[in-house]
Amino acid sequence: MSNYHIKHLEEYYQVYRKSVREPENFWEEIAEEHFMWRKKWDKVLSWDFSKPEVKWFEGAQLNITENCIDRHLATRGDKTAILFEPNDTNEASEKITYNQLYERVNKFANVLKAQGVSKGDRVCIYLPMIPELAISVLACARIGAIHSVVFAGFSSTALSTRINDSECKMVITSDGSYRGAKTIDLKGIVDEALKDCPCVDTVLVAKRINSEITMEAGRDKWLQPLLDEASSECEAEVMKAEDPLFILYTSGSTGMPKGMVHTTAGYMVYTAYTFKNVFQYRENDVYWCTADIGWITGHSYIVYGPLANGATTVMFEGVPSYPDFGRFWEIVEKHKVNQFYTAPTAIRALAKQGTELVEKYDLSSLKTLGSVGEPINEEAWHWYNDNIGKKKSPIVDTWWQTETGGIMITPIPFVTPTKPTYATLPFIGIQPALMDEHGEEIKGNQVDGRLCVKFPWPSMARTIWGNHQRYKDTYFSAFENKYFTGDGALRDEVGYYRITGRVDDVIIVSGHNLGTAPIEDAVNEHPAVAESAIVGFPHDVKGNALYGYVILKDTGEGRDHNNVRKEINQIITEHIGPIAKLDKIQFTSGLPKTRSGKIMRRILRKIAHKDTSNLGDTSTLLNPEVVQDIMDNAL
Ligand code: WTA
Repeated sequence: MSNYHIKHLEEYYQVYRKSVREPENFWEEIAEEHFMWRKKWDKVLSWDFSKPEVKWFEGAQLNITENCIDRHLATRGDKTAILFEPNDTNEASEKITYNQLYERVNKFANVLKAQGVSKGDRVCIYLPMIPELAISVLACARIGAIHSVVFAGFSSTALSTRINDSECKMVITSDGSYRGAKTIDLKGIVDEALKDCPCVDTVLVAKRINSEITMEAGRDKWLQPLLDEASSECEAEVMKAEDPLFILYTSGSTGMPKGMVHTTAGYMVYTAYTFKNVFQYRENDVYWCTADIGWITGHSYIVYGPLANGATTVMFEGVPSYPDFGRFWEIVEKHKVNQFYTAPTAIRALAKQGTELVEKYDLSSLKTLGSVGEPINEEAWHWYNDNIGKKKSPIVDTWWQTETGGIMITPIPFVTPTKPTYATLPFIGIQPALMDEHGEEIKGNQVDGRLCVKFPWPSMARTIWGNHQRYKDTYFSAFENKYFTGDGALRDEVGYYRITGRVDDVIIVSGHNLGTAPIEDAVNEHPAVAESAIVGFPHDVKGNALYGYVILKDTGEGRDHNNVRKEINQIITEHIGPIAKLDKIQFTSGLPKTRSGKIMRRILRKIAHKDTSNLGDTSTLLNPEVVQDIMDNAL
């Protein structure tokens, strides 16, 4: 028997050692015993980080939806697979059983086929958190189409960039979406985006808010009538282990978003195995991850990981503040949620509301609490632990990335003793390394450095869509023979890891990764702006917020600065989305630059952090005098 389900610390160490000493045997046993294969592999792993090339379970054939749905039907056909909780408390929740999920995914898969989608085609999914989102993801996987889910909070420009980059031939969307008391015109955003997307020939539209929308003849089709006509049996496409399953975009420190490509077999094995252990999921538990399926957390831990384990996974359409800030706790009570997985930014926003709305609800069903997306600060950790977990439910602070596909550093609840703000120990099979600035590995404990991983794991992204060189440059060039995460970390005296944050120009705002370069590009679109630099600064709810230093073309005299600020944020909203808006905009006459013309962000960051006691040597700058000026006018 393989160690599929770890139950105590000694077992963790024992299994961890095995996974490191004999990774191939270890993963082979997990893969053999817990999944359904059309054909087994010829080779468990081949890898070369210098190319970089990684292949898991080569030669194997499978379909991930047979693992997530079909194989459960015999024993769990009537069990709830997806528990949909709508935005509006007056609308009933919906329980989709495994049998029903099978039928709905198969019908949807047949619709995709009838609309000309075949294996290897890219399909963009731009939907709110409604069942059609999970179902369309699985329908793509059923027929071997590569899904590219774009978070439905992104703007039309961000959407069209992503559609064009992977040349999607279809977009799946809805008439609109609910978000708290607001509705959003999703179809209008898609229409705007598609003005620049010649590759798209079909748009499938789900009806959600019954709004008046325009349908372009020949291109746009209502989903429901097509589903009504479709057969409920669709033979699963037989996929190779390394066939792409999906593309998901993440921000880089420069330029275009990166379309991370995840493949089939390794991703399935690792997300399923981590789900089982990191949440200690038991049959009949109700598991809820509050993320959006538009992010990797939703892909791996709302859809694939839970369903591969035959779990009941909650999908919540709304926001934590609607109809009031008790909504999360109301849902926990209503569905007797056992595992609850959310982000520090949500915890901080809820903690601000006090505990009255928490005490109103019975949270005694909770067994495990999770956190993901950014470092969780000590105060938020304790609030979560005291008020939600009542000091009985361990908090799993899970560190991972879009690129890693699954959870990498995390406590295992009831196994690993937790420590506030520490993601603690590497998960089974994960070999982290801390590196110094000379490229040497820092051994021993009580050290800090740049976080790398020195051995492949099954769910790592294999490439960036259409740009393997960028994949190599971004992740495998900083340190030889290692995957570089872009994060800094420290290792304490017992070997626990604490993630200290990004060491590149990615800023995490409310758990969303934002690259500074695309935001600066958007700001510079304003006709009055000559140049700009964006840095992050600490924010008590969002973790980080954005601070923009902006040089205007003229001196800015005669302009209403507040109007310019509004216009700049408007442009950012159009180009990227409201999440990238700047909290502070300081107009300045210059930006500190090195003699080669590079902006010294370190100085700007310190000023934004109000930490100007030690700015370092500024005398070598091209324009040292601007530093004082910027400090004097800091916001
Ligand atoms: C950050 C989200 C500290 C980190 C799954 C990483 C975290 C980036 C944690 C990836 C955590 C994620 N503690 N930092 N528990 N989890 N991060 O791609 O900087 O949206 O590199 O994946 O979020 O964000 P992404």
